[in-house]
Amino acid sequence: MSDYWSDYWKAGHLSSFAQSNQDNYSGEIASFWQEFLRNHNLPHCNIVDIGSGNGALIDLALNNFKYSQPNYIGVDTAKLSIPKHLSQENVRFHQNTRAESLPFDSSTIDVAISQFGFEYTNMDKALKELSRSVKSGGEVCFVMHHKDSVIVKPNALIRKAVDEVMIKNGPFDVMSMFVNAIHKFGKNNPTAEKYRHSLNSQIQQLSRANKFGLYGTGFPDLLKDTMSSSSIDFKSRKSKLKSFRSEMKTLAQRLDNLLSVALDNDRMDSLSVSMSELGFTNVTHSRLHHGDELLGVSIKANLA
Ligand SMILES: C[S@@+](CC[C@H](N)C(=O)[O-])C[C@H]1O[C@@H](n2cnc3c(N)ncnc32)[C@H](O)[C@@H]1O
Repeated sequence: MSDYWSDYWKAGHLSSFAQSNQDNYSGEIASFWQEFLRNHNLPHCNIVDIGSGNGALIDLALNNFKYSQPNYIGVDTAKLSIPKHLSQENVRFHQNTRAESLPFDSSTIDVAISQFGFEYTNMDKALKELSRSVKSGGEVCFVMHHKDSVIVKPNALIRKAVDEVMIKNGPFDVMSMFVNAIHKFGKNNPTAEKYRHSLNSQIQQLSRANKFGLYGTGFPDLLKDTMSSSSIDFKSRKSKLKSFRSEMKTLAQRLDNLLSVALDNDRMDSLSVSMSELGFTNVTHSRLHHGDELLGVSIKANLA
């Protein structure tokens, strides 16, 4: 599962929802963490970030909020590519490490945090590990995906469109046949024309039904990049098609994973129950909004 995350982090992203490599969380998510972490900006405070990725949360704490006193420890199953500015004495990362089996002695952690990471773990096992590692009186706080959020809902549309584009004899297959026919018979011959018409009509249909999802797959860009100029040769076209197929496979895996881990209200409730059973107290939920839009849900608790 974490292979695509290793590839993602290797590409140099700082956070999991980034337009550019340097992008970090801002707005309500950043404010939420600024407020929560303020009380823990203390010397010798051990803060563990579960599913840390390349250290977005730790970067926010240290470099945006200037909370420089704690020790920050990132834990992630993926192979990471930590930015140089996080190579500091009080920061360390455990890569290839599962939250379900933490490399810490019992009762040595003051605070466990997670931003869109904890829900990817086997939560019961990870909670059990945290109830062992976190000190009595310590605190946990996770921000997680919710099925109704503005992040998850559009991704469900993109996931649907991936299947619609890649279905047998669907747009991707017809485009491949179109490329082969141009190569074999020339641009305006009847076979190539037949595929061109079929491709156009499939794209129009898909665009009417799920335009957002279709554009989210990148298929319209592939079409434009590959077919708009006759100077692109057959080999380059085939190579673009091959890369696109593999990108769609990874995208489908990543989105299936996102959609399956995102919580709904029932799962939030059962998470609270599991936490109480493991000795966590003061369990509270909240919803993070940007205006009317749901960004995610948070759960906080103390260890008795
Ligand atoms: C959506 S990313 C979030 C990364 C980071 N917190 C951020 O917001 O940029 C989820 C991360 O959880 C990690 N992960 C998934 N399952 C895990 C597990 N069982 N234990 C630790 N990390 C896990 C993945 O490798 C991935 O890096």
